[in-house]
Amino acid sequence: MSWFTRRWRRAVAERPQAQSATRPLSLEEEEARDRGYIFGESEGEISRLDLQHYMFRWEFGGDFMAPLSSPLTILDVACGTGRWARDVARQFPQAAVVGFDINQQQLETSLAEGARSGADSLPENCTFLAGDALEPFNFPDGAFDLVMARATSAFIPVAQWPSVIAQMARVCRPGGWVELRDFALVRSPHSALNELTVKFANLAAARGIYPGAGPYLGDFLRTAGLGNIQVRKVAVRSGGPQRATRGGRLMLADYLALLDRVTPFIAQAGIEQPDRWRQLLAQARSETALHPDTCYAEVELTAAVGQR
Ligand SMILES: C[S@@+](CC[C@H](N)C(=O)[O-])C[C@H]1O[C@@H](n2cnc3c(N)ncnc32)[C@H](O)[C@@H]1O
Repeated sequence: MSWFTRRWRRAVAERPQAQSATRPLSLEEEEARDRGYIFGESEGEISRLDLQHYMFRWEFGGDFMAPLSSPLTILDVACGTGRWARDVARQFPQAAVVGFDINQQQLETSLAEGARSGADSLPENCTFLAGDALEPFNFPDGAFDLVMARATSAFIPVAQWPSVIAQMARVCRPGGWVELRDFALVRSPHSALNELTVKFANLAAARGIYPGAGPYLGDFLRTAGLGNIQVRKVAVRSGGPQRATRGGRLMLADYLALLDRVTPFIAQAGIEQPDRWRQLLAQARSETALHPDTCYAEVELTAAVGQR
């Protein structure tokens, strides 16, 4: 039995309203995971996701938009490093916060780092599981007050958004909230970053993924039959103090790191030679350094919340 499952069982015993358990991924599922997720895994990816967490928080002024008062159960779908879940668990010590992700290794590494540094230990009311968000969720109906999915357009195939949101709505209690936060595609008036973005989108499209689904989140929730929908959009801009937004620098660092990470997948898919891809990345980095005050890149973030 894995550590994740043990901890989950303890949380379930304490809070029967959210009972379920996960199981270890089979070999086939692990292979499917590695084939499917284009950003891969590593310590570099953990740092990138942590940067992204703070960018979302700064740009939206908080970690969720749902009007919560004293929630008892919260689920984070594809929780990445689990940083959102840990922070929300501290904010709501009375709530059982559960995060699940297909990448158990990434979670374990992030938790071990937090425990080692002493800066981010695991709150007692926070539990993590390994699980596949593209399969029916292993939770009972109506188990959670808030169900969050952030930056999941990175892996949800366009055709599967309705079924993922249907699962989120199913495990949300009547009157509870489903929230999505995501990116549009990055825009840039500079040639290197523009070319990288077009090719990155082609790589995702070849896998049925649209990694800029942010603008459509409100429509997704509406189509799933949720009510009281609220949508908020913010434009994140890199550049000098006059033009940039607070998370702009983080956004550009995050995006360049992401483009770096996909280098092997771009080559495997025959979209670009690794040397040319690296050359474009180097050009993008030097352009940002040459024109630090211009708005080199801009991306719209969307937060959308709906009530079940
Ligand atoms: C861009 S990250 C976002 C992580 C987190 N939601 C956040 O905002 O920090 C996408 C996450 O989806 C996870 N993932 C990829 N495919 C998945 C799947 N089929 N089921 C669950 N998680 C998946 C990855 O391991 C990664 O942690």
